[in-house]
Amino acid sequence: MPRPIVLGIETSCDETAVALVDGARRVLAHKLVSQIEDHAAYGGVVPEIAARAHIEHLDRLVKAALDDAGLALGDVDAVAATAGPGLIGGVMVGLVTAKALALAAGKPLVAVNHLEAHALSPRLTDPDLGFPYLLLLVSGGHCQTLVVEGVGRYRRLGSTIDDAVGEAFDKTAKLMGLGYPGGPAVERLAATGDPMRFDLPRPFVGDRSLNFSFSGLKSALRRQGERLLAERGGPVDADRADLCAAFQAAVADCLADRVARALDRGPAGAALVVAGGVAANQALRARLARVAADAGRAFQAPPLWLCTDNGAMVAWAGVERFRLGFTDPLDVPARPRWPLDEAGAPVYGGGRKGAKA
Ligand code: KG4
Ligand code: ZN
Repeated sequence: MPRPIVLGIETSCDETAVALVDGARRVLAHKLVSQIEDHAAYGGVVPEIAARAHIEHLDRLVKAALDDAGLALGDVDAVAATAGPGLIGGVMVGLVTAKALALAAGKPLVAVNHLEAHALSPRLTDPDLGFPYLLLLVSGGHCQTLVVEGVGRYRRLGSTIDDAVGEAFDKTAKLMGLGYPGGPAVERLAATGDPMRFDLPRPFVGDRSLNFSFSGLKSALRRQGERLLAERGGPVDADRADLCAAFQAAVADCLADRVARALDRGPAGAALVVAGGVAANQALRARLARVAADAGRAFQAPPLWLCTDNGAMVAWAGVERFRLGFTDPLDVPARPRWPLDEAGAPVYGGGRKGAKA
């Protein structure tokens, strides 16, 4: 079996996930328990409930992953876990479990930055994706463009100054009573709606900076919704679909403009890569593919199952780091905040509590 074999654990938000990945990019096992139902009643992730649910599921998932792969703990070369950024209770559950497993098996620990796991995820399925590439990282807690220069080497170009894109999708869904998480629901409805009926702003489009902003979009949407509500006692389904379509079209325009500009300022000829939960959105993927094509760049997006949080991306980041000798001591801390570009200037806002990725 091609070495290294790495066990990866992800517990930074509302997915408890474990995977085994080897050096030949094979996913030997992949286990995931989503807590969506545990949090649905609250309209978002409740950190305490998430941490308890991780404790409940994690041991069983580790055992099931090893069984699926036909491996014993002693067969792995390293144990990797998300060590941040994220909801700290959950991160601690995953990291402490990984430390215990590493100690018990006498294997090295790899403390993975959740953002790095997203950032490197496209290399798990595309062996030809070399450094550097321009990454658009779009998830529930982040929206940024980064030059990925290598493993552990990131240069941030632009970032949201307020809401993350996934957060904007989730708030839009909440506004329209579509439940949590909002992204997939908004995408489904948007596909049936008219994106031209409602006029929404395109924050920062044409701006010289490389930053993003989504909070104005959300407020404009709320005003449109309230107007409809006042006019006739509540939006009907067609209104909702049109609102979702308008929202998604505005997001697409914003991302396309910002990314085109970032491609200009990033390394010449670098591929465009999109990763993170929002990268699962087909309309946005298609739009970004066009941006890349217009700029004469290659475009890469991970398969959908690899976009939203999962254990395979953590295990793969573990493989990449382990190969370079980047392992961590057993007292490595869990970090609620952990920017990929530590030398970069701080960004105002910067996404939901700076916690989720
Ligand atoms: O990376 P991720 O799984 O979790 C973290 O934030 O760490 O991203 C989750 C986010 C949520 O905000 C969710 O609404 C959004 O990704 N998302 C989508 C889609 N699928 C998930 N947003 C738009 N379209 C989708 N199809
Ligand atoms: Zn994530």
